[in-house]
Amino acid sequence: MIEQRKSIHGTWSSRWTFILAATGSAVGLGNIWKFPYTAGESGGGAFVLIYLACIFLIGIPIMLGEIMIGRRGRSSPANTMSYLAKQAETSQAWTLLGATGALAGLLILSFYSVVAGWAMAYIFDGFQETSAVAIKADFKIFQANPLALIFWHSLFIFITVMIVARGILKGLEAWINTLMPMLFVIIILLCIYAMQTGAFIEGLSYLFKPDFSKITSDVILTALGQAFFTLSLGMGAIMAYGAYMPADQNIGKTALTVASLDTGVALLAGIAIFPIVFANGLEPSSGPGLVFETLPIAFANMPLGALFGTLFFILLSIAALSSSISLIEPGVAWLVESLKTKRSYAAMALGCFAWILGIFSALSFNLIKEFEIYEMTVFNFTDFLTSKIMLPMGGIFIAIFVGWVMKKEDILEELQMREGVIFKSWYFVVRFIAPIMVGAVILNFLLPDHLKSKASVFIQSILKLFI
Ligand code: PHE
Repeated sequence: MIEQRKSIHGTWSSRWTFILAATGSAVGLGNIWKFPYTAGESGGGAFVLIYLACIFLIGIPIMLGEIMIGRRGRSSPANTMSYLAKQAETSQAWTLLGATGALAGLLILSFYSVVAGWAMAYIFDGFQETSAVAIKADFKIFQANPLALIFWHSLFIFITVMIVARGILKGLEAWINTLMPMLFVIIILLCIYAMQTGAFIEGLSYLFKPDFSKITSDVILTALGQAFFTLSLGMGAIMAYGAYMPADQNIGKTALTVASLDTGVALLAGIAIFPIVFANGLEPSSGPGLVFETLPIAFANMPLGALFGTLFFILLSIAALSSSISLIEPGVAWLVESLKTKRSYAAMALGCFAWILGIFSALSFNLIKEFEIYEMTVFNFTDFLTSKIMLPMGGIFIAIFVGWVMKKEDILEELQMREGVIFKSWYFVVRFIAPIMVGAVILNFLLPDHLKSKASVFIQSILKLFI
């Protein structure tokens, strides 16, 4: 018999709701803004290959673990960890995993909201300017305006807090299921536009033809970090949503669906963007502005482009919102449970924290551009710290908790699986492969430069043996 802990927050009404909510969390700026520009900065195909490998070999197995922990604990990630640690008669230090995850969420929200603000500002662009040079210059002018960036950032945090204050259960079910497919349709339209730019093949081969000499320890860590970021893994967002999942829903299939949808959207965004980059003589490595410098060209040149452009940035902002609420939720749920505060107070307090930090991220594109932490601007440093360190570290500990702390019988029961090949391979990945690989990638990155380049040569030659 499956003994289910009663959920503190209630469960979602239908099995689609978890998929929608988790996809809502996963699909966002990470797919449409971060994936293309990171792929462009990291040299294209080789990065994409490693990214896909990270999604399927490490991301999906850890996602399964995270959902499972969430559903078994049925409360905020921090309290879930504390409850499951008690059940496994082990140290309460595991609560820290939930707590640092909640912190990672707020740190991500601080810079995520700045970019979401750009997307909101572009709703009003009008998409009349057809020249690539002028569009790029417009984006530069926008970035140089601290007040504009802070205004849009503040508005985005405000909307996020308003939604979270009302409660995720009420906020989510209604809207994701119609708007997400619409976003998908516009991305397909953009891909069709990309097909007739004259640089479609060039774009595709940039994205999918790996040049192994481009693989460095930095690129591998970037790909791994991107996999965690885009799947919303390693900080408790998926765990927090797992707490609302109905008891009889199959976790494995669900994780696979969410990850496939997420990966599909990212790849399609890349397929739309890179042909536009090459057809207009732009640089793939132009950085965080890439999407805002390319897609307006497409909208200005396609039939009904102004309409589609406006709609696209509205939908992108909403996709960003359905991710941002999951960034703040682990912290909010924790405060509500532990301090018995109102949801609205908790959301406001944490929203304020992310808002203040985010102001520094916004200013790091203009007034404090020169201010650097470890040779990175505030924006880049916050992104680096969360995507490349905190999320992968969180992933390691989630894998260790599932693989070494939880009882195997409990896991089998929660996953509703028999001990067949699929379970055994997954269990092996979670116990050994995921912690070792992720740990190795982080350590390799921290090596001194001369050892790092030796490691890169070694990895490149191994890859060449296989592919
Ligand atoms: N996955 C989201 C995106 O791709 C961002 C996110 C990261 C959300 C981590 C929650 C947790 O936009």
